[in-house]
Amino acid sequence: MNIKLRPEPFGCIVFDTRNRKHVFVDTGEPVRDLDSPETMSYVAEELGYAEGPVQVELVGGTLGSRLSAPLCLYLEITEYCTLRCAHCYKPDDAAHDGMSKEDFFRLLEEAKSMGIFEVRLCGNEPTTSPIFADICRKAQSLGLFLSLNTSGVMGIRRRRQIVAIKPHQVVVSVDGTRETNDTIRLPGAYDRAVALLRMLQEADIPRRINCVLSKLTVDHIDQVVALAKEVGSGISFIPLRTMGRATPFKESSSLTREGMYKAVQHITELKQQVPEVSLETFFDILGHGFWAHHTMDINVPCPAGKNAFVSANGELYPCDWLRYLGDQYCCGDVRENGLRYLWEHSNTLRGFHSIRRRKCLQCSHYLRTCYGGCWCSYQDSIASGDYEDRLCFVELTGQEYSRIR
Ligand SMILES: C[S@@+](CC[C@H](N)C(=O)[O-])C[C@H]1O[C@@H](n2cnc3c(N)ncnc32)[C@H](O)[C@@H]1O
Ligand code: SF4
Ligand code: SF4
Repeated sequence: MNIKLRPEPFGCIVFDTRNRKHVFVDTGEPVRDLDSPETMSYVAEELGYAEGPVQVELVGGTLGSRLSAPLCLYLEITEYCTLRCAHCYKPDDAAHDGMSKEDFFRLLEEAKSMGIFEVRLCGNEPTTSPIFADICRKAQSLGLFLSLNTSGVMGIRRRRQIVAIKPHQVVVSVDGTRETNDTIRLPGAYDRAVALLRMLQEADIPRRINCVLSKLTVDHIDQVVALAKEVGSGISFIPLRTMGRATPFKESSSLTREGMYKAVQHITELKQQVPEVSLETFFDILGHGFWAHHTMDINVPCPAGKNAFVSANGELYPCDWLRYLGDQYCCGDVRENGLRYLWEHSNTLRGFHSIRRRKCLQCSHYLRTCYGGCWCSYQDSIASGDYEDRLCFVELTGQEYSRIR
């Protein structure tokens, strides 16, 4: 099946597994009937597949008060990592991974029954987990879209294993040029990451590069784009965030608002020059070459409003990053309560979803080309109720962006 359709109170969400895109289809009532020509014409119209048949699978079906289920479930299958990257928010010391393989299997079965579209294995480094391959196979046997984040720092056998598993998408970290990447990550890390990207390309497995934008990498954007072009991938440029493990690197290397503006200006120019490489910065408010990794079609800020993260010890959070801002974001243990129950009933999750960011709500870019920044970057303006990402540079652009002027 290449299209998954999930009923929601407003209509349905359609997920296209070929390009990992979600579309929210508003029909005024839950769509459940796949045989209805009306439904199929909506799907075709919304996704632009008027020509050629599509295979549609109906998933989920239990309606909730908000979204019936996360779009993507991020799973930290291990807290172990081979590296100690200078920018990383994860703690140095690997705690004991509390979730067993059976716990993860149960969670994946629940994910399937809730109609979650995608399972993203993340970490620390998911490929080091002894249960990595089993989890991948289980997710695939349930028909879930399987993706993973990896540093790519591994030997040839592990690379071959990933290719044999054939995930729907693999996201590989490359932070700047070889020299910079290896300074931040580990000597030899760049060549290994590139070796994995090349093997994925040969095997025609969809791939993407994550590049953390910092003072160290910001002058190497062209080189990372050249690499992406060579290996046929897109790039998500993620601004360096300072939550989690404190490192001298993080303190001194995160971008300023002005630095972020300059970087996005340059990336916007590159979108014209290299249109075959999809580029994303999370503040794509300049130019027209907009490409979004997460759907905008829901009135909550940032991906945490639509996805969920489960840690290696079974705790549910709106997003992995929030976990390092304090225990107040923990929504409960999926082994005790189950994901479905927590998703629907967690007061923490509800409180998080109901927060409205004053500045973003007044901005014409909000949920059109910008998610509203990242919670981890709001610390200076939470008390005022503005919830302003310290990297938001919209005022510097000279654009008329305020809806209430
Ligand atoms: C935590 S890692 C886990 C997967 C894998 N170990 C890797 O390095 O790709 C997921 C992504 O988060 C990025 N990341 C880590 N610390 C970050 C920070 N402080 N700010 C922004 N991105 C960060 C990493 O570079 C990586 O692309
Ligand atoms: S960024 Fe990834 S590879 Fe680097 S220390 Fe963090 S989890 Fe490990
Ligand atoms: S005000 Fe909010 S929505 Fe507008 S550009 Fe800034 S972060 Fe994005």
